[in-house]
Amino acid sequence: MSKGRILSGMRPTGKLHLGNLLGALENWKTLQNEGYECFYFVADWHALTTDYMDTSHIRSNIVEMVTDWLASGLDPEKSVLFIQSLVPEHAELHLMLSMITPVSWLERNPTYKEQMQELSNKDISTYGFLGYPVLQAADILIYKANYVPVGIDQAPHVELTREIARRFNYFYGEVFPIPDIKLTDFPKVLGTDGRKMSKSYQNAIYLADSPEEVRKKVSIMVTDPQRVRRTDPGNPEVCPVFSLHKIFTSVETQKTLDRDCRTAQIGCVDCKKILAGNLITTLSPVYEKRQTLSQKPDVVMDILTKGSEKARQMARKTLEEAKAAMKML
Ligand code: TRP
Ligand code: SF4
Repeated sequence: MSKGRILSGMRPTGKLHLGNLLGALENWKTLQNEGYECFYFVADWHALTTDYMDTSHIRSNIVEMVTDWLASGLDPEKSVLFIQSLVPEHAELHLMLSMITPVSWLERNPTYKEQMQELSNKDISTYGFLGYPVLQAADILIYKANYVPVGIDQAPHVELTREIARRFNYFYGEVFPIPDIKLTDFPKVLGTDGRKMSKSYQNAIYLADSPEEVRKKVSIMVTDPQRVRRTDPGNPEVCPVFSLHKIFTSVETQKTLDRDCRTAQIGCVDCKKILAGNLITTLSPVYEKRQTLSQKPDVVMDILTKGSEKARQMARKTLEEAKAAMKML
């Protein structure tokens, strides 16, 4: 017996970094291995909401990203891995849900307001972008998912999904279970410049980085800015290098490093070498698997095509139910 159905998705951003690994993939993998029925998908239509002007990278981004999924241990035998646009039922349910969703709910959405300001370099004053959460609701509801594992930034979207589901059920009868958010609380992963690790900041360490690249990136990481000379004592609490030690280094070694940094008994160069070593140890199985898989993009695509067929069967069934409830059959 399954513990419940899980659904989550990622926009096709291309190769993934440490932040994505710890923020989502590790969690997805745990759920997959703990007896949930898992559906994980590439939200390629969602990518269009902000990047409709240049769609040339979407396809290669899908393959890169899913290569990382597989290398990190998502298993197509256990989880259904698929592409949103290969399951057109999402679009049909999206249309139906869009009919019952008040515009004011969408305009109120904090993510919408934020992105409108942040992405001022892109023209996202589109119908599609406003409707982003309606498409997301269709993604979730079409599988009657019980849990949606996402970060806190996505909480408003899951909340909107719940409201849309309730409204549908109220008008047409109980079709959709109300999904719960499964908040992933993950360590905040800092990039080489000390800001949050992000593709757009160019401060990320990628799962695709070779051991040499990892060593190089760690070696140029910013440290405690007050520690100028080797003889200056440092403060691990404000050091981005140490923030990664907290995730990848044994508690014992952390204690030693903490003390040796504060007393200037260790230099940043050596401290970074230890970190790079630990990062490489953790990442090398993923890296190796990725190396093999990246030679076989058609294997990756095949997994997604088969997964999409599986997903589609379930999506069709729910769509029929929703149409029947609306007396649209
Ligand atoms: N909006 C999500 C993000 O940017 C991606 C996404 C699309 C999603 N549809 C979803 C996540 C459904 C969970 C469930 O990260
Ligand atoms: Fe950071 Fe390590 Fe240097 Fe201390 S010794 S400032 S923890 S890099």
